[in-house]
Amino acid sequence: MHLQRRNRILRQSPAIRAMVRETLLTPNDFIVPLFIVEGENLISEIPSMPGYFRRSLDQTIKEVKELWAMGLQSVLLFVKCDDSLKDNRGTEALNPNGLMQRSIRAIKDAVPEMLIMTDVALDPFSSYGHDGIVENQEILNDATVEVLAAMSVSHAQAGADFVAPSDMMDGRIGAIRLALEENNFTKTGIMSYSAKYASSFYGPFRDALDSAPGFGDKKTYQMDYANRSEAIRETLMDIEEGADIVMIKPALSYLDIIREIKNTVDVPVSAYNISGEYAMIKAAAKMGWIEEDKAILETLFSIKRAGADLIASYFAKDAVRLLG
Ligand code: PBG
Repeated sequence: MHLQRRNRILRQSPAIRAMVRETLLTPNDFIVPLFIVEGENLISEIPSMPGYFRRSLDQTIKEVKELWAMGLQSVLLFVKCDDSLKDNRGTEALNPNGLMQRSIRAIKDAVPEMLIMTDVALDPFSSYGHDGIVENQEILNDATVEVLAAMSVSHAQAGADFVAPSDMMDGRIGAIRLALEENNFTKTGIMSYSAKYASSFYGPFRDALDSAPGFGDKKTYQMDYANRSEAIRETLMDIEEGADIVMIKPALSYLDIIREIKNTVDVPVSAYNISGEYAMIKAAAKMGWIEEDKAILETLFSIKRAGADLIASYFAKDAVRLLG
């Protein structure tokens, strides 16, 4: 055969493949989610997330130091709220001495340069397990947004670098930005979960925080997975309202959405490689059906290749180890 082009020329050795590789992953690409619980010296594995842990604050600080030493420079904090403190309005979320606020201060104190992002949503604090205030089985929008704005100010006061609203209420980014401005937090960023889908892959996370909805589902606020244009509209609106970074969540069933948003917007785009996506790889690897390390890297590269500038992932430490 006489071929004009032989595409295999660029694949024939590791050196050539490395030279023409289009996508790179570095520790800077990752945001590390952390689950914090009350108590001391506690580390408990999340049953549906093998190899991932809930930690008390003292142990979280140890972990944050380790992350920093590995080159991982941003964490996304979630706290598990005691059942006795939950109510319909998520009152505990605003407690200046709540677990989240104490954690922010303690982590800042221990590793001042670590970027702290905080989850802003009511579900871990809600007696109904919903991301908003409930009235007659409905999730109220505007009343919820007021709490989210106050919660963001409270996190900023404690020292959060970015607040990350994960609730999908309308108008919350604008309200949060205004509240931050009014309180003189002009350096606090907003990473908006701008296109967050109602997904069956959040299950293990809800186990981790004991935050599953007590009735119904989240489809009146999180998006329908059949929709694409809506994700663009949601994201553009969040940017207009003041989001510094936008996020698509989940990642793997939504790689097309990540790419489309990356092509459309001019702010950094992040994607959340969520708990169910983690659990699937862990479960298949445990069965001996896939090779875990290879599957992890392939997954993370696919998310980056799709267009994510940043990836929130439970595999961040594995990635740094594997990229060596
Ligand atoms: C809720 C929230 C969820 C996740 C992050 N914030 C779950 C939900 O919407 O029910 C999921 C993260 C994951 O699955 O890893 N505000």
